[in-house]
Amino acid sequence: MGIVGVGNIGSAHAAAIYGARVRGMKLCALCDVSRKRREQIAALYPDIPVFADADALLASGLCEAVIVATPHGSHPVIAEKAFAAGLHVLTEKPAGVTCESVRHLMQTARQSGKAFGVMFNQRTNRLFGIARSLVSSGALGECKRMVWIITNWYRKQCYYDSGGWRATWSGEGGGVLLNQAPHNLDLWQWICGMPQSVRAVCEEGKYHRIEVEDEATLLARYANGMTAVFMTSTGDYPGTNRLEITGTKGKLVIENGKLVHTALAIDEREFCLMAETAVNPLTVTEYADEPYNGHIRILENFAAHILSGTPLIAPGYDAVNELTLSNAAYLSAWTGEEITLPMDDARFADMLARRAAGSDPTAKAHERESVQLDYKDRWNTTW
Ligand SMILES: NC(=O)c1ccc[n+]([C@@H]2O[C@H](COP(=O)([O-])OP(=O)(O)OC[C@H]3O[C@@H](n4cnc5c(N)ncnc54)[C@H](O)[C@@H]3O)[C@@H](O)[C@H]2O)c1
Repeated sequence: MGIVGVGNIGSAHAAAIYGARVRGMKLCALCDVSRKRREQIAALYPDIPVFADADALLASGLCEAVIVATPHGSHPVIAEKAFAAGLHVLTEKPAGVTCESVRHLMQTARQSGKAFGVMFNQRTNRLFGIARSLVSSGALGECKRMVWIITNWYRKQCYYDSGGWRATWSGEGGGVLLNQAPHNLDLWQWICGMPQSVRAVCEEGKYHRIEVEDEATLLARYANGMTAVFMTSTGDYPGTNRLEITGTKGKLVIENGKLVHTALAIDEREFCLMAETAVNPLTVTEYADEPYNGHIRILENFAAHILSGTPLIAPGYDAVNELTLSNAAYLSAWTGEEITLPMDDARFADMLARRAAGSDPTAKAHERESVQLDYKDRWNTTW
């Protein structure tokens, strides 16, 4: 395995693989454009070749696969080159900034025949897996509503100041919807499927000196009348992480490391319109979270997929769905329109390009690197 981009998350993947904590993977090469990072990496892993640019790593013949852990916009570019070089690709989330670029990447991946995965590590959380089964098995009945308050993505100003690319339209291409919330947007669509339309309000620089949004509220509608409300922010402390899905046969709530499933004896629609009894008995089942390291699970699954054909937990081809939700939310916030899906990808890419052209990264405070240590602590968060 090679890793392109050895910053916050790339260095965590490098440490896990080098430390033999990932079954089926061996670290063979690293790459970062920053000389300072290269010096740090070389000191940590003296026996691993370190490259200054991705092309050299991809052409080295040292790796069978790469993790792409650079700033979002470069994921499709580097991933496409890796496929062209005959390598398997595991991209960090989001798979890109625009659906347009990710659809192009998907086409290249398909033509290559190589494995294509995305780091949606929260898919490996037991509770979200149970939620998915309850919905897909019909145990919840027909879904009526999903509400997710996911505001525990708190970030301090120094986090945004820690990299010039962060929180700018030109460097990052978005804010909380594009950087922190992709995990939750992916889980939303993984559990409930894709809605028919999205409208959104995005608040730009509400809590931080940044030009992109640090708070967003989405309202989505489904073909069957189901609605979804999704609220996210990097400005609430303490934040909330509460997912509630209500169906005609009951509801589920995930909060504080626990899933509570309340099942109705009689489907609510039938009970409301036909039942002669006044009581609809409830059965409550609770499921507890278990300790897990989602990044390592995704890495091991990716290796098992290549080595023995194990199905991917998070195929790269799924990544376009969560990106569709965030692209549509931006388009709705910028135009005031309700965006019908599938959306006009080119229109969004064009509007984003115009925003990026007017981007002013210098509006942020000076860059600092001191944030790296406390940022790493976030990976231990219980969901
Ligand atoms: N799955 C997760 O839980 C998770 C967590 C954090 C970050 N991420 C994602 O990982 C990506 C990187 O985030 P980060 O926080 O590590 O950022 P970062 O800025 O800390 O690291 C990015 C690194 O990539 C290097 N780089 C930039 N362009 C490059 C290029 N063309 N070739 C080689 N190296 C290049 C930079 O020098 C830097 O060291 C983002 O897309 C982010 O959304 C995912």
